[in-house]
Amino acid sequence: MTQIQTTRGLQPLAPGVGAEVTGIDLSSLSREDTDFVLDAYHEHAALLLRDQDLSHEDLIAFSSLFGDVDEAPEAQRSKAVPGKPQIYVVSNIKGDNGKPIGSLGAGEAIWHADMSNRENPPEATLLYAVELPPEGGDTWIAGMAAALEGMHPDLRRRIEGRSIKHDGTYNSGGFVRKGVVANDDPLTCPGTLHPAICAHPATGKPVLYLGRRRNAYVDGLSLEDSEALLDALWAHATQDAFCYAHRWRKGDLLMWDNRSTLHRRDAFNPDHRRMMLRTQTKGRAAPRAA
Ligand code: OGA
Ligand code: MN
Repeated sequence: MTQIQTTRGLQPLAPGVGAEVTGIDLSSLSREDTDFVLDAYHEHAALLLRDQDLSHEDLIAFSSLFGDVDEAPEAQRSKAVPGKPQIYVVSNIKGDNGKPIGSLGAGEAIWHADMSNRENPPEATLLYAVELPPEGGDTWIAGMAAALEGMHPDLRRRIEGRSIKHDGTYNSGGFVRKGVVANDDPLTCPGTLHPAICAHPATGKPVLYLGRRRNAYVDGLSLEDSEALLDALWAHATQDAFCYAHRWRKGDLLMWDNRSTLHRRDAFNPDHRRMMLRTQTKGRAAPRAA
């Protein structure tokens, strides 16, 4: 039996990242609810709200609290909800034409921040669970303020003042992005340099900003030194101590701040169906060094 919550609550999901917000119905938010959610978002970087029953309009309205809601580019419209370019479908389900109705398939999505190859990367990403496989497909989030705080000073010194190239060739499912040619050379692949340690624009807190491992490159180092440093950084940043692993239930809304978290998804059985509705808010600025 579901219990009807009447008071707002907040419980941390893991020591390094995330909180569950309870007692709020996202389809009818009061001014106080909105303030509560925004404060929790800035404090915890990832939020979970369970047992939500959202229309497409509700999801867009809630997403717009965090910034201007992005629209799927023209070439990707087939993966958006018809007539709602702001809502992107993440799914392995095949449509009548035999093609997936959404992105990312059923494989693992490796650790990443969304579209950090852009000059102004998207800020918040929101995922709303519509249909889920019986097992697999868990989504993991790692907190990059905690990862930086917990970093050995020697490792931190090696990235202070440095920038990292964020690859624009592959998406997190390992698929080549539209209009790009396959390239596995970190030195020549398309991408964008961002500071390795950024100041979060809302909180001012320093955060580790890695983007994704594949084709990454620490600017100014030899490829060999860059690879060794990135391996050390990634091994540190994705330790369980900084992570929350989310086992989905239908009606869950999970959201994260791409400026201060990384996320990944476990693979699931491709014969099972998984469907999420996804929105993201536009980046307002380029990441800035702390
Ligand atoms: C995304 C993403 C993970 C998931 O939509 O950006 O990484 O659990 N999704 O589907
Ligand atoms: Mn993602």
